[in-house]
Amino acid sequence: MFSLQNQTAFISGASRGLGEQFALTLAKAGADLILTSRDVSALTKIKKQVEELGRRCETIALDVRSHESIVAAVAEAKQRVEKIDILVNNAGCNVRKPALDVTWDNWNLVLDTNLRGTFFLAQEVARHFMIPAGYGRIINIGSVTSVSGYAGLGPYGASRGGTKQLTMSLADDWGKYGITVNCLAPGWFKTAQNAVMYEDAEWVEYLSDRIPLKRPGNVTGGDLDGPLLFLAAEESRYMTGQIMLIDGGISTGATRATPNKKRP
Ligand SMILES: NC(=O)c1ccc[n+]([C@@H]2O[C@H](COP(=O)([O-])OP(=O)(O)OC[C@H]3O[C@@H](n4cnc5c(N)ncnc54)[C@H](OP(=O)(O)O)[C@@H]3O)[C@@H](O)[C@H]2O)c1
Repeated sequence: MFSLQNQTAFISGASRGLGEQFALTLAKAGADLILTSRDVSALTKIKKQVEELGRRCETIALDVRSHESIVAAVAEAKQRVEKIDILVNNAGCNVRKPALDVTWDNWNLVLDTNLRGTFFLAQEVARHFMIPAGYGRIINIGSVTSVSGYAGLGPYGASRGGTKQLTMSLADDWGKYGITVNCLAPGWFKTAQNAVMYEDAEWVEYLSDRIPLKRPGNVTGGDLDGPLLFLAAEESRYMTGQIMLIDGGISTGATRATPNKKRP
């Protein structure tokens, strides 16, 4: 599809789920990788897989809730690689609760990780790698909640709406340096953080019915691979500040406009 030969990508939160798949996708396209987790030992398996693909893979500890950790991780990357062409700002978390049950700490956890962490990691990578090089592809992972409201996802939706707005601001700020900033926004994908929901067959049926393509997303099946590669590649050169929704169409609204009466 798109070649990432001679490119280096930094992916936050690559220990599992979407981040793990993003690592494999970029490595298969030829990119060398810097992968992060709060616990580098959680990256052992993915590092091995990336190296088996013939790509270099550096692993670095990073907690995006700590500014100190962000600064240290990017400084460590500077010691190990000459350039970072692509940043996938993927680290994130969620707290699913009715709005009345959300605590102050729940709010801070989600917003600090998903929004503040995304901003300061982008700032640090842009400052030390992309602006001096005059080139960069920043891909902020948003969500269908960047554009739609869902009960039980107040802090998460606020963080992902913020991710979309932040993407537009950074695109305007850094376009002059040859950096594009876009938001890849997945819909509903089963991963470790939400697997328990997918054990409820009735809920999966309800969800699938609301999705125009009639199924949740499939991470390892490749539903996000092509869009990610496009945003990571040089070929997306004239696209910046945009949100790319990969959600089976659920962000269309997807409520039946006609009653589903059985015919006699
Ligand atoms: N799954 C979906 O349906 C879906 C849909 C739309 C958007 N997203 C977004 O996609 C991203 C990945 O989601 P996922 O489903 O793959 O989640 P996941 O399986 O829970 O993985 C989350 C990743 O983020 C890392 N992480 C969490 N808190 C961190 C912190 N404070 N500092 C650094 N890394 C941290 C975790 O790394 P360690 O625990 O190893 O440190 C892990 O690698 C998230 O930003 C999520 O909001 C997911």
